[in-house]
Amino acid sequence: MKVRKAVIPVAGLGTRVLPASKAIPKEMMPVVDKPVIQYVVEEAVAAGIKEIILVTRTGKSAIEDHFDAHYELEAELARKNKTALLAAIQHIVPPDVSIVSVRQAEAKGLGHAVHCAASAVGDEPFVVILPDVLVSNGLDKTNDLARMISEFESNAAAQIMVGEVPDDKVQLYGIADCEGIVPGLGQSATIKGLVEKPAQNESPSNLAVIGRYVLPGKIMGLLAEGKPGAGGEIQLTDAIDVLLAEQPVEAYKMMGETYDCGEKLGYLKANIAYGLQHSETANGLKEFISTLTSTHE
Ligand code: G1P
Repeated sequence: MKVRKAVIPVAGLGTRVLPASKAIPKEMMPVVDKPVIQYVVEEAVAAGIKEIILVTRTGKSAIEDHFDAHYELEAELARKNKTALLAAIQHIVPPDVSIVSVRQAEAKGLGHAVHCAASAVGDEPFVVILPDVLVSNGLDKTNDLARMISEFESNAAAQIMVGEVPDDKVQLYGIADCEGIVPGLGQSATIKGLVEKPAQNESPSNLAVIGRYVLPGKIMGLLAEGKPGAGGEIQLTDAIDVLLAEQPVEAYKMMGETYDCGEKLGYLKANIAYGLQHSETANGLKEFISTLTSTHE
């Protein structure tokens, strides 16, 4: 079955980037000239997704506005003949892609947030994209998400994107047990168990779940029955751990680099990495970095 839908949970409070995220959603913080959420939506579109379901909450309407028309601004840019800027704000998603939103009224965890999209997803397979995480190859048509979708469409095994993390960071992630097998870059390996935020001495591996999932529609039923897990929250990881007893679930080892924009250092790194690639900022930023490094030697 074709994968057409993406669920993007954007109802988090952004506590790791306060006070920046007090009055604006953390997903609207810019990396160079686009908000983080735009990169993530463009990644989904590049991978062939046609319907995006935002799981949102009160105080987050700037995200929906960003993807909506802004007639006054458009008229003003047209009047001033600023055609490039006009195109940049008018065509954020192509006309054949729709964006809808559902609400998560209570912060009960990622599994609960995904389940809030159950009626919009129906019984179709779908992807989950965690919007904090930027993937460096996200805008390519052959991005990691596209590869995961094509693997799912060929063998019906759910795909969970993983990357290796240092041993002392495993307690921050969902961790996959692939019985000692480490898939090659861009390859998948069967997952035997998945555990949310294990203690370092109990972790089955250092293969961490990095925020991209391709899941069958039936995960929604498992989430509906989900009990609070790590941190007292309903965890997506726990529902996938039940799913893998019923059908194949694979760990897909990502090829791109990731930046966690939900925390300060990752956000700064993303701005530098993307700024070094942007035609308007690359040269100036390179010069600035070399001045900084020479004065700190
Ligand atoms: C969530 C997931 C976790 C995953 C992580 C990736 O945790 O529950 O399994 O590894 O995202 O960023 P959170 O970072 O929301 O605590």
